[in-house]
Parts: sequence; C-alpha cells; structure tokens
Amino acid sequence: MLADSYGRVATDLRVSLTDRCNLRCTYCMPAEGLEWLPKPELLTDDELGRLLRVGVTMLGITEVRFTGGEPLLRKGLPGIIAAASALEPRPKTALTTNGIGLARFAPALAEAGLDRVNVSLDTLKPDVFKDLARRDRLSDVLDGLAGAADAGLTPVKVNAVLMRDVNDDEAVDLLRYCLDRGYELRFIEQMPLDAQHGWRRDTMVTADEILDRLGAAFDLRPADDEERGSAPAETFLVDGGPHRVGVIGSVTRPFCGACDRVRLTADGQVRNCLFARDESDLRGPMRDGASDEELAERWRAAVATKLPGHGINDPSFLQPARPMSAIGG
Ligand code: 5AD
Ligand code: SF4
Repeated sequence: MLADSYGRVATDLRVSLTDRCNLRCTYCMPAEGLEWLPKPELLTDDELGRLLRVGVTMLGITEVRFTGGEPLLRKGLPGIIAAASALEPRPKTALTTNGIGLARFAPALAEAGLDRVNVSLDTLKPDVFKDLARRDRLSDVLDGLAGAADAGLTPVKVNAVLMRDVNDDEAVDLLRYCLDRGYELRFIEQMPLDAQHGWRRDTMVTADEILDRLGAAFDLRPADDEERGSAPAETFLVDGGPHRVGVIGSVTRPFCGACDRVRLTADGQVRNCLFARDESDLRGPMRDGASDEELAERWRAAVATKLPGHGINDPSFLQPARPMSAIGG
C-alpha cells in the first residue's frame, strides 16, 4: 500500500505522458511555450509499463489517469493504455486531454481499454478560445467531445477554469451546453500553477462565485455527500437531477484530507501533490538496475512523506518549481 503518515492511502495514480502541448492556455503556459523535457529523460513506453505494473500489482493502485501536457501527443498512447488495462487487477483508466485530435483517436483509445475522458473546455466562443488558449481550435475540441461520447468513453467529463473578465460570464452557457449533450461539467478554481506565476488570489473566480452565477439560472442542490469520498468535486443536482454539476474549490475549499492521489511525471519522478516541492526519482534507480521490489520500496517511502495539505493559503506558500504542464493535472 501507498500510505502516508496522516492515514491516507494513495490508490489513484496520475501519470504525465509528456510535458508538451499544442495549446498555450494563459493559466498554464507563456505564449512561447516552455523548454520541453529532453527525450532521453522521458520514461520509455516499456519503463512506464513497468512502473504501472509495480504500482498496480504491488502497491494497490486501482485507478490510472493519463495526463500531460497533452497526452494525445504521446505516440505510444494506445499501447500504454492497453498495457495498463491488461494488468491484474485491472485498474480503471481515464485520460485528461484538451480534446484536440480526440475525435480521431477516441475509437482506438476505447479499443485499447480506456474507460473515460476528461476534456478541458473553458469557453464556447471561438474568439475567447483563441485568446485564452492562444490557438484557434475550439471546433476541434467540440468535435473531440462528441467523438469521445460516440466511442463510449463515458461519462464524458468536462473541466472548465473560469478567469475574471475572460470567460467568467460563460458559466451558465457552459453548463447548458454540457447538460444538452450529457457531459458532466466541473468547474475548477484557478490554481497557482502557471509557469509565468501570473495567478492572483484577489482576481481568481471562487467556488462561491461560480455557484452564485449558476444559481441565477439553475436550481442547485448538494448531491448526497456520501458519494463524494475522495473526489475533489462538490457535486450538485441541477434542477432536481438527474443531471449534475461539480465545483472543485482547490483553493477556497481544499480537500487535501481526503486525497488519494499520487503523481508520476513524464521523467519518472513521484510527486505527492500538484503543489509538492519535493519529488522522488524512480527513473534513475530503474535505469541503474533496481528490482521491482526496490522500486516499490522507493515509491512507498516517497508517499510516506506526503504533507497534510497544499499550503496555498499559508503566508509562506511557494509555487512548485514545475508548472502544471510538467506535473500533470
Ligand atoms: N488552475 C486550474 N486548473 C488548471 N488546469 C490547468 N492549469 C490550471 C490552473 N492553473 C486544468 C486544465 C485541465 C486540467 C488538467 O487542469 O484546464 O482541465
Ligand atoms: Fe495545454 Fe492543458 Fe496547459 Fe492548456 S492547460 S496549455 S491544454 S497543458
């Protein structure tokens, strides 16, 4: 088991497959992109497959989520998913993607064993998308969502980040769009993870504000909290249900006490939190010939040191050295 000293057990592994991306969302990256990890530093498909096997068969990982950067840019993606799906006991698998190219890939990913997708969609206006993501690709994302649903990668979940005076007037429209198509929408509070360090507490759109905006157009009632468990989203029934909307108040409503996640970066580092300032290397020992048991022991030791919370609200908070795109969402 991957237990920490606060009694939490990590069962949900988030794996970043690449730090590269074909968008440049302002809350994530500067316009010019970032200095990408050099190829030799990335885990190969085989190395990744081995760590997934150690995680699932020796350490109790039951859920694997593939993220990036943009994970659809990783060439071996279907093979990686197939390898994860072939493990016993079979973990649940999901993919967090910006949706570009998803329409084309969805059938192959479903075939490889992928269960679900989360697609980022922050706006329904092409010109706002172009400003926010710095690429004119909204229609590709919408096609990707439809393609995922057609391929059975359901429930299709949608992640939206609202930014003040950019897209914060679209909460209701985004929810209508998702309700009409059977997608499950979750709003995520903007977190201090952008490479440019542009996040400001005083301008972020809070969970309370998001709920106020939605409340003007919909009747929202908290869904049964028992279902929340370790899920970061607070879920609400929309207009009596069965449709739902989620709000992830990472900053103003932290859920660290129930966290069951552990992360693996594309270059083989274990991270206990998006906001962790330390990481533990598995790639080096693996390339130096460590056994599965040795890798498992390092992984256990890494999780054992997990801190109780992300500390965003502490005066001494420091942003992690890696931006979101190199950690994985
Ligand atoms: N704050 C909140 N969410 C973010 N994401 C990326 N950067 C941030 C940030 N700074 C979102 C993406 C994607 C998910 C992985 O995280 O939009 O949906
Ligand atoms: Fe790419 Fe996601 Fe960052 Fe946007 S938020 S630039 S889609 S990695």
